[in-house]
Amino acid sequence: MRKIAMLGSGFIGRFYADSIVGLRSKDKIVSIFSRSESNANKFAEDYNVPHSTTDMKKAINHGDVDTVVISLPNNLHEEAVMECVKAGKGVLCTKPLGRNAEEAKRMMDAVEEAGIFNGYLEDLVYTPKYLKALESVQKGALGSVLWARSREAHPGPHSEWFWDKEMAGGGCILDLGCHCIEIGRGYIGKDIKPVEVICWADTQVKPIDAEDHAIGMVRYENGAIGQFEVSWTFRGGLDLRDEVMGSEGTIMINNFLRTGFDMFTSGEGYDYVAEKAESNKGWIFPVGDELHELGYNFMFTDMFNAMDNGNTPGETFYDGYVVNAVMDAAYTSVKSKKWEPVKLDVWRGREGVEKISSMRDYDEDHYLVKEETTHYGAKKYIIKNKSTGKISEITE
Ligand SMILES: NC(=O)c1ccc[n+]([C@@H]2O[C@H](COP(=O)([O-])OP(=O)(O)OC[C@H]3O[C@@H](n4cnc5c(N)ncnc54)[C@H](O)[C@@H]3O)[C@@H](O)[C@H]2O)c1
Repeated sequence: MRKIAMLGSGFIGRFYADSIVGLRSKDKIVSIFSRSESNANKFAEDYNVPHSTTDMKKAINHGDVDTVVISLPNNLHEEAVMECVKAGKGVLCTKPLGRNAEEAKRMMDAVEEAGIFNGYLEDLVYTPKYLKALESVQKGALGSVLWARSREAHPGPHSEWFWDKEMAGGGCILDLGCHCIEIGRGYIGKDIKPVEVICWADTQVKPIDAEDHAIGMVRYENGAIGQFEVSWTFRGGLDLRDEVMGSEGTIMINNFLRTGFDMFTSGEGYDYVAEKAESNKGWIFPVGDELHELGYNFMFTDMFNAMDNGNTPGETFYDGYVVNAVMDAAYTSVKSKKWEPVKLDVWRGREGVEKISSMRDYDEDHYLVKEETTHYGAKKYIIKNKSTGKISEITE
């Protein structure tokens, strides 16, 4: 059983609490910290939490707490992590870990030096569809992964601090790109080094200093590309999609907006549809179980099982640090309009991985370029001579 201090009683604090007290009912939130007393009290009442406070240190240092979940604005993650380090308590931090890699590395170094449990709460690599897709990829169903595209787009965040570049650390790249980058890393292989990034970003709609729309590509050492598409200006709900292309197959996932659940309503008597759904009438796309579809349940199960068993969870502060380093390169690229290197002072994956090559032989002297059965019943083989390079075709 984990005994948890929740730091933050806002949007994600409540999703996390629903998940923590839901699937693994043996875990308990024993302290809640919130900036406002009324929010702390309301959260305590809603989730039956015995201790509530407006003093973060008191929540972390509470005698019953063994695990701290950080659900605070991005600019407060480091301060909260450092308090957990001082208190020697296990810490789970929401995404993004830091506002940049420097901040993330300080947090990673501190928890590792202190030897405390650390988990990076990247829920979107725990969605049921992602877990199934990843298992298929890892078993080889797609051959070599060449391109992993992940898209997160919605009409913009729900709290004021996200729109403040200093507090948030950036715009939609930092807020949403962190999800997409870790998703791409997972499919391509977390042991494959992200080498360089090229990214376009702009502020197209919102009156803010940070970017509200961006598209980037991350090149991995083996030649695979992770593509992220993020927006705070997308209209029509929360669009969460992945597409993975491999030498032997393809996966397309729609996590949220179109899950096979379409409903029409006049809007009478209907209120909440799903996170960031912009409309509650007409044709709408509800989500069956948001806690599952967004990965929160499987994420906390992995985190707490790892803690109970003395293992490392699927996502640690190290992963958060790597993601921050990729995003730093993206921001540099937005300015330079060039590919920019990912600066990783700490890299724990493989080095010197060769470029993906999935060339197949047709026979001893030829590579197979393409095999196709035509609409008129012929079998065609396009082949390339290994020594002359000549391309020819054989029809059977
Ligand atoms: N899918 C996800 O993993 C996901 C989704 C949403 C948010 N998040 C992350 O969770 C964190 C919190 O986001 P949120 O959406 O819950 O925000 P929120 O604004 O809904 O809640 C933030 C909480 O922090 C408290 N807070 C705000 N400013 C504070 C301050 N200056 N001092 C102390 N407390 C303060 C608020 O009172 C509130 O309890 C962010 O890092 C965000 O990126 C993750």
